[in-house]
Amino acid sequence: MILETRGIGKSFGSVLALREVSMSVEAGQVTCVLGDNGAGKSTLIKILSGVHQHDAGSLLVDGAEARFASPRDALDRGISTVYQDLAMIPLMSVWRNFFLGSEPRRGLLGFDVRRARRVARDELRAMGIDVRDVDQPVGTLSGGERQSVAIARAVYFGARVLILDEPTSALGVKQAGVVLRYIAAARDRGLGVVFITHNPHHAYPVGDRFLLLNRGTSLGQYAKADISRERLTSLMAGAAELEELAHELERD
Ligand SMILES: Nc1ncnc2c1ncn2[C@@H]1O[C@H](COP(=O)(O)OP(=O)(O)OP(=O)(O)O)[C@@H](O)[C@H]1O
Ligand SMILES: [Mg+2]
Repeated sequence: MILETRGIGKSFGSVLALREVSMSVEAGQVTCVLGDNGAGKSTLIKILSGVHQHDAGSLLVDGAEARFASPRDALDRGISTVYQDLAMIPLMSVWRNFFLGSEPRRGLLGFDVRRARRVARDELRAMGIDVRDVDQPVGTLSGGERQSVAIARAVYFGARVLILDEPTSALGVKQAGVVLRYIAAARDRGLGVVFITHNPHHAYPVGDRFLLLNRGTSLGQYAKADISRERLTSLMAGAAELEELAHELERD
């Protein structure tokens, strides 16, 4: 197991955002994290990526207990996170964005631009991403293509674990399909992928295991063999219903 949480918990003041959540990430597999708004999905991945520190339970990397003081710490252990807003510069070219933050220390002075463009183009192609021109601004790409560039970049810079926070939620059916293919491509290259989504229809085709969160607590982590698409969908729907009911009762 590359990455694992055991009974992890996190509070923000009096808000208990996560309570006793256990999950695991294996090389060459996709772990999906599902849950409604406010379920704790982002909080969980922020712990995995060093943005937040847990205050209960344990986090393990390669079977040994770990604690990340910063996102840099997590990145140094090969844990790379692609956020919804992507941290790309829309007016900058595809290849510049590909190398953003990873340029040699001396800046672009002495940076082999021709080589950089070739690497970006080749890496995108290797992931099956057809960017016609790596000089075009990233802002001219579709949302799905931009997600894909971010995934290819993480793969190239040596990620072992790739965490994707809702990469498909802003996309239409076709574009979501494109991103799901890149998730499968990253998996096939041996990465452990953590795929956050609230859509069981996006999760099921690529997922090897499914962690369900509801209001900060785990409804369990299921291996694909142990849960059908129908069951996964109904568990998700059930969680939403319970939440609605709780709100209704609280009003009285
Ligand atoms: N920095 C913070 N300070 C205080 N409360 C927070 C903080 N971050 C998250 N929370 C609370 O923790 C709970 C879980 O939030 P989180 O963002 O993890 O949910 P989520 O599952 O990612 O939801 P969404 O689907 O809307 O992205 C929420 O009640 C949220 O208000
Ligand atoms: Mg979130």
